[in-house]
Amino acid sequence: MMGPVVIYGAGGHGRAIIELLRAIPGQAIAGIVDAAPPGPAMLGVPVLGDDAALSGLRASGVVAAVVAVGDAAARRAIAARLTAQGFALPVLVHPAALVAQSAALAEGTVVLPRAVIGAAARIGRLCIVNTGAIIEHDAVLGEAVHVGPGAVLPGGVTVSDAAVIGAGAACRPYVRIGAGAVIGVGAAVIADVPAGARMAGVPARPLAAEG
Ligand SMILES: CC(C)(COP(=O)(O)OP(=O)(O)OC[C@H]1O[C@@H](n2cnc3c(N)ncnc32)[C@H](O)[C@@H]1OP(=O)(O)O)[C@@H](O)C(=O)NCCC(=O)NCCS
Repeated sequence: MMGPVVIYGAGGHGRAIIELLRAIPGQAIAGIVDAAPPGPAMLGVPVLGDDAALSGLRASGVVAAVVAVGDAAARRAIAARLTAQGFALPVLVHPAALVAQSAALAEGTVVLPRAVIGAAARIGRLCIVNTGAIIEHDAVLGEAVHVGPGAVLPGGVTVSDAAVIGAGAACRPYVRIGAGAVIGVGAAVIADVPAGARMAGVPARPLAAEG
């Protein structure tokens, strides 16, 4: 048993993680930590302060943490600070998600309600598999990937580190999405996407560069 979990992040994703933890029978929440604490409590969970609160939590026997921050770079940086202080980053799966027995999920990954992860899928560290997302058989996600609500990654799709798949986006099976790529809401990805590309539309095309 991992004991109470401290949530790092007091934004919208933090609220989703509160609900995830509350849905797990017997799971306690130690409190919330945030770099900019918004107030004394969020959804009835005490906000304990900024990073300075972490050593006290460890001293009181809290060993598990979850990084509830949507930005991939921030999520990785916070995870590094937490593990350096001795926190474990458990995989958290909402009881209303479906994860195949043969799927593998690495530390710090969270799976929200109604998400489905299929046979032999491999999900890296610190991923967010958001509400209702479908990750099919043999798909492979790198580290800190965010699969948005209702997005569909069919069999064999590969998504590299820190990519974001927008809400409701879908891909052709076996496409490869490069590191740091952003796929827009509702896009249909029909070919491989280079690292860092920003794609949107049906079929997905590169968004015009800013400026
Ligand atoms: C693609 C995306 C990253 C672009 O964001 P942005 O850089 O702020 O772009 P803008 O809103 O300034 O739009 C730029 C152009 O792209 C178009 N565009 C933006 N998102 C689009 C989408 N999903 N599909 C089609 N066109 C889109 C805009 O209409 C605009 O077109 P214009 O220049 O002809 O007016 C963003 O719209 C998006 O879809 N993000 C995904 C968010 C998500 O689902 N996250 C996970 C869920 S929690």
